[in-house]
Amino acid sequence: PHAHLTLNPRSSIGPIDRRLFGSFIEHLGRAVYDGIYEPGHPSADENGFRGDVLELVRELGVSTIRYPGGNFVSGFRWEDSVGPVEKRPTRLDLAWHSTESNEVGLHEFQTWLDAAGSELMLAVNLGTRGTAEALDLLEYANLAQGTALADQRRQNGREAPFDVRMWCLGNEMDGPWQLGHRSADDYGKLAAQTARAMRSFDPDLQLVVCGSSSSTMPTFGEWERVVLGHTYDDVDFISCHAYYEDLGDRASFLASGVDMDRFIEQVVATADHVGAVRGSSKRIQLSFDEWNIWYNTRFENVDKIAGVDNWPTAPRLLEDVYTVTDAVVFGSLMISLLKHADRVTSASLAQLVNVIAPIMTEPGGPAWRQTTFFPFAATSASAVGRAIDVQLQSDSYATAKYGTVPVIDAVGAWNDDAGTGAVYVVNRSETEAAEVIIDLSHLGADVSITAQTLSDPDLDAANTPTDPDRVRPAANPTVVIVAGIATITLPPVSWTEVLV
Ligand code: AHR
Repeated sequence: PHAHLTLNPRSSIGPIDRRLFGSFIEHLGRAVYDGIYEPGHPSADENGFRGDVLELVRELGVSTIRYPGGNFVSGFRWEDSVGPVEKRPTRLDLAWHSTESNEVGLHEFQTWLDAAGSELMLAVNLGTRGTAEALDLLEYANLAQGTALADQRRQNGREAPFDVRMWCLGNEMDGPWQLGHRSADDYGKLAAQTARAMRSFDPDLQLVVCGSSSSTMPTFGEWERVVLGHTYDDVDFISCHAYYEDLGDRASFLASGVDMDRFIEQVVATADHVGAVRGSSKRIQLSFDEWNIWYNTRFENVDKIAGVDNWPTAPRLLEDVYTVTDAVVFGSLMISLLKHADRVTSASLAQLVNVIAPIMTEPGGPAWRQTTFFPFAATSASAVGRAIDVQLQSDSYATAKYGTVPVIDAVGAWNDDAGTGAVYVVNRSETEAAEVIIDLSHLGADVSITAQTLSDPDLDAANTPTDPDRVRPAANPTVVIVAGIATITLPPVSWTEVLV
C-alpha cells in the first residue's frame, strides 16, 4: 500500500490541550493498592508510594488524572477517605465486588499527584448520592477556610485548598451496571441541578457531564441529546468512553480508530444540534475520559468475582497484557484524538497502573512498561502546539466491521515556539509494508527528520516481568529525504513517530 501526507503548519486543526494526555486511576483491582501504593516495596517513599511507578508515570507524561472512579465512584462516600487513616472505615465496593480499606484517600492521592506532576480531575458520586454530597466535597476540597468542612481539611493536614478545577458529574450513568443508573431525563436533571449548585460556589469550575459509556449503547445519541438539553448552559464538556478489543478479526480491530472518529463526530454533531436548537453560540467540548484497548469479553466471561462472603482486597482484575497489535491500535486511537483536537480538549487513558494499564507491577518486584506505553509517551512528549491535518491520501482495505477504510492513518503536530513538528502514522496492513511519502516542502528545503517505529514480526509479542524489554520502538532506517520530500517504509501492523 501507498500513502501521501503533507505537513503544512497552515493546515491547523486546533491547539492541542495538554489535558488530551490525561489518564485515570480508579480504586479497582491493583491500581492503587499494590500498584501506585505499596509501603513495603524497596522503592517506596515515606508515604508508601512506589518510586519506580512514579518514575514511569513521569516518563509516560500524563497531564490530568481522573479519580477515584469509574464505576467505583457510584458507591463511594468521600468522607470515608479523609481523616486519620486508623479511623477510616473499611467498606464494600459493590462495583468490583471488592473490599476498600480507604487507606489511600483524597489527601494521599493528591500527595502522589504532586510527586507525579499531574493534575487531579475529581469525579463526584451521582449514583447512590446526590447534589448535597457533591457540594460538601467541593467545599472540603476547594474552600480556603472558615467553615466546618474547609477547617476539617486543614486539620487533616492540607492547609491550602486542593483547588480542583475539573469535575466529573458522576460516571457512566447510562449503563445498567452503574449503581444508581438513571434515564437520560432523570440524570440530565440531576446533573444540571448539581452543576448549577457547584457553580454557585465557583462559576469557573470546569464540569464534565456523562455522555454514553460506548457508541454501541442502545441509547447512544439520544442520551447525549437529552442530557445536554438539560445541562447545556451549565457544563463545559460531555464525556465519551470507548474500549476496543480483537474479537478474532484483526483487520477490523486494526481499524478501531475509524470507529473512534465516527463516535467523536457523532457526539460533536449531537452537541451542536442541541446548541442550534437553543440558539446558543456556546460550543460543548468533548472529554474522552475513558479510552483504551480492553479485553472486556475475557473479564465478563471469566474473571468476575462473586459470593456474599467473597470480597477480596486489591484482587487481580482487568490485568490485560498488551501485544504489538494492541499498541498499534492504541497509537491509532491517539491519532484519532489529535485529529479532533478542536473539540476533544480532554482525554483520559483508562487506566494507568495494573488495571488495563500501560504500567504493570509485581508486589515486592519490578514495574515495567507494556507495549502501549510507547505510543503514549512519545505522543505526549512531541504533540505540542497545534494539531495539523496532513491531507492524507491512502490506499484502502475492506473490513467486516467498518467497511472500506484507509490502510494508513496519520495526523501531524506543529510547535510554533520551537519550530518543530511531528507526524504520527499507522500501517494497518497485516501483511504488507507501506510506502509513505511525506511532503515537508512547506518547511523549507533543508528540513531533516528522524523516525521511530513500533512493530514486530510476531504481532502478538508482549512485554512481561521476565522479558520487560521484548517490545520497544526502534529507529526506522528507511527514511530518505530529498528537497523536502521524505519517503519512509512502514512495516505491517506498525506505529511510527516522525520528528521534524
Ligand atoms: O475502566 C474500567 C471501567 O470501565 C470503569 O470503571 C467504568 O467507568 C467503565 O465501564
